[in-house]
Amino acid sequence: TPTSILITGGAGYIGSHTCRILSKKGLNLVVLDNLEYGHRDALEVSENLHFYQGSVGNESLLKKIFINHKIEAVVHFAAYTYVGESVAQPEKYYENNILQPMTLLRVMKSFGCVNIIFSSTCATYGNPHYLPLDENHPQHPVSPYGKSKYFLEQIIRDYSKAYGFRYVFLRYFNASGAAMDGSIGEDHDPETHLIPLLLKTAKGESGPLKIFGNDYETPDGTCLRDYIHVEDLAEAHFLALSYLQQRKASNAFNLGTGKGYSVMEVIHEVENVTNRKVPFEIVPRREGDATSLVAQASLAKSQLGWEAKHKSLYSIVESAWKWENGPSNGKYNN
Ligand code: UFG
Repeated sequence: TPTSILITGGAGYIGSHTCRILSKKGLNLVVLDNLEYGHRDALEVSENLHFYQGSVGNESLLKKIFINHKIEAVVHFAAYTYVGESVAQPEKYYENNILQPMTLLRVMKSFGCVNIIFSSTCATYGNPHYLPLDENHPQHPVSPYGKSKYFLEQIIRDYSKAYGFRYVFLRYFNASGAAMDGSIGEDHDPETHLIPLLLKTAKGESGPLKIFGNDYETPDGTCLRDYIHVEDLAEAHFLALSYLQQRKASNAFNLGTGKGYSVMEVIHEVENVTNRKVPFEIVPRREGDATSLVAQASLAKSQLGWEAKHKSLYSIVESAWKWENGPSNGKYNN
C-alpha cells in the first residue's frame, strides 16, 4: 500500500493551506480534524485525501486510521490558539494542546511511526532578550498557549531520545494572507488577528480597529510583528517532510521573513491595498503582547532550503483581500 501523511488540524487555517500544497506535490493525505474551528470546505474533495472527523485524543479512531493507512509521518497542527483565552482558561489549553496530543504520540509509537512535524510558535520564546530571534534564544513562554506549545516540544524531544522519534518543530511567526488564487483563506470565529480584522473594518463589517497600545518602544509606538504568508508556511511543511525522509537531524526552525512591521504600518498597507480609509482608535495594551517579534530564519534556509517567497506585506494583504472579496466573502459555509 502507498504511504500517507497524517495531518491533524488539517481543516484549520495553516493546516488547510498545507494540505493544498502537499496534495499538489502528489502526496496522499489523511486529515484528522474535529471541525471545532476547522472547516470541511477548506479541504478539496480528492481521492488522495481521506478525511476523518475526530480529535487527536480519540485513541480508537487513531488506531483505525493507522490500521487503514500506512502513515509514514504526522504533521500535527491541531491546537487551540487564542492567547488571551489561554490565560483565562489554562486547563482547556493544557488538556487540548498537551494531553490529547499525548494520545496521538502513544498511537504513533505503538505503530512504529516516529516522524513528526509539529506546529510551534514564536510565542515559545516569550519576551525577546535580543532581536531577531534565533532558534537558540531562551524559551520562557508567557501565556498558557505559548507554554502548551513549549511543553509539547519538550515531550517530543524526550520521545526522540527514548523512543527514536524524529521531529521538526516549525516555529511560525505571524501567519497571514490567503491562497494566492483566493480559493481558501482565514476564517476564525471569533477573529482576533490584525490583518483580517483590518480588512473587515475596510469592508465596513467591523468597527474601528482597536490598536492595543501606541506607547511601546518602537519607532511609531505600536508593536512590531513578522508577518509570514500562509503559503510560505505550507511550503515549509513539504520541505520538512523531505528533510525527515532524508533522515536529517531533528531540529527546530523559525519561519518568518526577518522583517518586522508595526501595527500602524499594517494599517497603512491595508489602506493601500483596499484603497479605503481604515478607521482606528488607540486602546490600552493587550496583556501578553511582546513589543517586537522578528525572526532570524537563516537556519530554515540552510537546513530546509526554505525561504519566504512573499516578502512584501503588500502581497500578503492583497491575497487576504482577494479571499475576503471572493465568492465566499471570507467565510466558509461549514
Ligand atoms: N493588534 C491590535 N489590535 C487588534 C488585533 C491585534 O492592535 O485588534 C496588534 C497586536 O497587539 C499585535 C499585532 O496586532 O501587536 C498582531 O496581533 P495578532 O493578534 O494578529 O497576532 P499575535 O502577534 O498576537 O500572534 C500571537 C502569537 C502567535 C500565535 C497567535 C495566536 O505570536 O504565535 O497569537 O493567535 F499563534
